[in-house]
Amino acid sequence: MVILGGVIARAGALLALAHPVWALVSQRTTSVSSSFPAAGNASYDYVVVGGGTAGLVIAARLAASGASVSVVEAGGFYETDFTNLTTVPGYAFSDPVLAPVEFFPPIPAVDWELLSEAQPGANGRKVHYAAGKTLGGSSAINTMCYHRATKSTYQRWADAVGNPSYSWNALLPYFLKSSRLTPPNWPKRNTPNATFSYDPTVFCSSPSAAACGPLQVSYANWVDPTNTWFSVALAAIGVVKNTIGFNSGFLSGAAYTTETITPDAIRSSSESSYLARALAQTTLKVYNRTQASKILFSGTKATGVSVTTGSLTYVLSARKEVILSAGVFHSPQLLLLSGIGPQATLDSLSIPVVANLSGVGQNLQDPIFFSVQNGLQTPSLASELADPARQATILQQYVSTQSGPFSSAGGYIGFEKLPPAARAALSPRTASLLATLPADVPEVEYLAGSFAGTGGGVTTIGDLSAVVLNPFSRGSVTISSASIADKPVVDMGWLSDPADAEVALAAFKRLRQAWNATALSAVKVGPEVRPGAAVQSDADILSFIRANAIQIWHASATNAMGKSAAAGAVVDWRAKVFGVNRLRVVDASVLPFAMPGHPQATIYALAEKIADCILADA
Ligand SMILES: Cc1cc2nc3c(=O)[nH]c(=O)nc-3n(C[C@H](O)[C@H](O)[C@H](O)COP(=O)(O)OP(=O)(O)OC[C@H]3O[C@@H](n4cnc5c(N)ncnc54)[C@H](O)[C@@H]3O)c2cc1C
Ligand SMILES: *[C@@H]1O[C@H](CO)[C@@H](O)[C@H](O)[C@H]1NC(C)=O
Ligand SMILES: *[C@@H]1O[C@H](CO)[C@@H](O)[C@H](O)[C@H]1NC(C)=O
Ligand SMILES: *[C@@H]1O[C@H](CO)[C@@H](O)[C@H](O)[C@H]1NC(C)=O
Ligand SMILES: *[C@@H]1O[C@H](CO)[C@@H](O)[C@H](O)[C@H]1NC(C)=O
Ligand SMILES: *[C@@H]1O[C@H](CO)[C@@H](O)[C@H](O)[C@H]1NC(C)=O
Ligand SMILES: *[C@@H]1O[C@H](CO)[C@@H](O)[C@H](O)[C@H]1NC(C)=O
Repeated sequence: MVILGGVIARAGALLALAHPVWALVSQRTTSVSSSFPAAGNASYDYVVVGGGTAGLVIAARLAASGASVSVVEAGGFYETDFTNLTTVPGYAFSDPVLAPVEFFPPIPAVDWELLSEAQPGANGRKVHYAAGKTLGGSSAINTMCYHRATKSTYQRWADAVGNPSYSWNALLPYFLKSSRLTPPNWPKRNTPNATFSYDPTVFCSSPSAAACGPLQVSYANWVDPTNTWFSVALAAIGVVKNTIGFNSGFLSGAAYTTETITPDAIRSSSESSYLARALAQTTLKVYNRTQASKILFSGTKATGVSVTTGSLTYVLSARKEVILSAGVFHSPQLLLLSGIGPQATLDSLSIPVVANLSGVGQNLQDPIFFSVQNGLQTPSLASELADPARQATILQQYVSTQSGPFSSAGGYIGFEKLPPAARAALSPRTASLLATLPADVPEVEYLAGSFAGTGGGVTTIGDLSAVVLNPFSRGSVTISSASIADKPVVDMGWLSDPADAEVALAAFKRLRQAWNATALSAVKVGPEVRPGAAVQSDADILSFIRANAIQIWHASATNAMGKSAAAGAVVDWRAKVFGVNRLRVVDASVLPFAMPGHPQATIYALAEKIADCILADA
């Protein structure tokens, strides 16, 4: 992960518009100006709140059915509002929007600028938690890793909501419908020691491109040489490169991951894929730079949304349904502001109660990660980007052949259940909590990353991270006033459950074992950089983790899907909010629990599935 220090400072220099992608976007939007209505009361069949990852899938599919649809999005077009930091894959990890620190560079053009509550389990730190405020939402600022969860994860989901339509077999059509895969470009990758095999049958194979989903999924057109050494290191501890990849319902071993990147090496977001197609082919109306402040009800029937563009406040009425897709923090915020949530919270802020739903904003699950670093003599994505002598060459490579470091967002990852020796140190309570997870659900993810080197033969600071995938800690989202002007109050609950600390400690030791691989001595330089040899005891390692762990931006489950409101669920298996009518929530907030690994593939598929549900119910 290249997210701190000098990288952020350097990013300040990248301000002007330079990539041809801007020309593309202005073509896309000016040719369809009727898609952007003027502010003022209007009625639609469906009003979608939030033009992010899930929201644009829903809006595009409903509009394609011939229904009248509008989508309300607080942000604009990231390609024109921000810099090529959002569009060029090589910048994905150096975008200053990621900064997970209390004092972060404000980036109002694409970010909500949320600052968390102090985390007692993490030395009382408050962190900036990036969340996309732009068309595309977090798919426009994420780090582009695309993969699916395991077969048993989806079965567990089906069991949790009491409906078989969440099984792997039932969801697979929606994974296919949302995406299209471009096979690896081996000549551009040009790295014989980094070949792999994968399973093409779990992607859309229709010869007609229009039949496949619009989201572009591909493998980077460049292999980071340092990642080939992380492949060796992980294999040495048993996390061996697999032959199938991470899209077939299995998460075990290591692999070069698929990424949401177009074949010509530009970020593929829900905006550049789904929205671009909908603007060209449907009558979808987009209210950009427009913030929803409240869902309006007649009794318990949702009738529309109160929105504000500039200084104008007006109502978008929904003849059929309102679909809330404002994301894991803002969907619970909007429900609460609209009178749906724990009665005590609503009463304390004098918000009239529409539905007393105790689960709104509860149950937040946020995986954390941390790393061990060593000096390496190998070049890497970070060292290439930081080397002035390489700039002209790598820019030329990107512009003329869409390859080289700028075309890559990293992408070597691995998954495992902790092996027996590591499990032996777990307390009985932690062992029994982990035993509640299905056999194919990994407990830890490993991520290969890098920072630029420090000279003296150190070309790269290799950064091997571990993610605690299934947090038992719980956080929450709530509100501090009855006004949309106040940001949601976000508490991730990091390391509040001791089981997470035990898994983190075990995972940290696995990182050191991987770094200790004999083969790595060929490229390692000097003693361990971080945390350094002085950190040895369990207590010292845990202090390091509490002081340094950060989010991987995969928070979920703040409006969990489930069987009943009494059990803490907020929506049913059709994503309908309990206790009211004509209102659904579709985004990361309705995941019933944290997906193992990176969630975006699942969120795209979920949105496709619920779009089908909505049309079937219409
Ligand atoms: C920095 C970062 C890196 C990540 N890396 C990865 C990765 O590599 N792989 C992966 O799988 N996942 C990754 N994720 C997670 C993944 O991107 C998110 O889980 C997913 O995009 C969330 O989708 P969503 O639809 O729930 O919300 P979002 O995509 O965030 O959409 C919510 C939308 O609602 C809008 N909105 C909110 N409130 C209002 C309002 N009141 N009025 C109008 N509009 C509003 C927002 O502006 C936004 O556009 C990352 C996330 C982040 C932030
Ligand atoms: C991104 O934009 C900056 C500023 O205009 C420019 O210097 C840089 O070359 C661009 N990067 C790429 C990969 O196009
Ligand atoms: C929305 O985007 C369109 C296309 O870029 C632009 O013309 C319009 O001014 C934007 N609306 C607002 C309120 O900024
Ligand atoms: C817009 O709708 C709201 C609520 O339905 C109504 O109070 C208001 O008068 C309408 N505004 C105009 C300009 O029609
Ligand atoms: C793999 O090949 C690349 C490019 O030839 C080289 O830089 C790297 O060191 C090799 N990695 C290993 C583990 O041998
Ligand atoms: C609201 O729901 C909670 C939990 O279901 C319940 O304990 C509480 O009594 C309810 N409040 C009212 C006023 O009904
Ligand atoms: C590293 O390897 C050496 C030699 O095999 C071994 O003695 C040592 O315990 C290992 N250290 C770790 C942290 O795995």
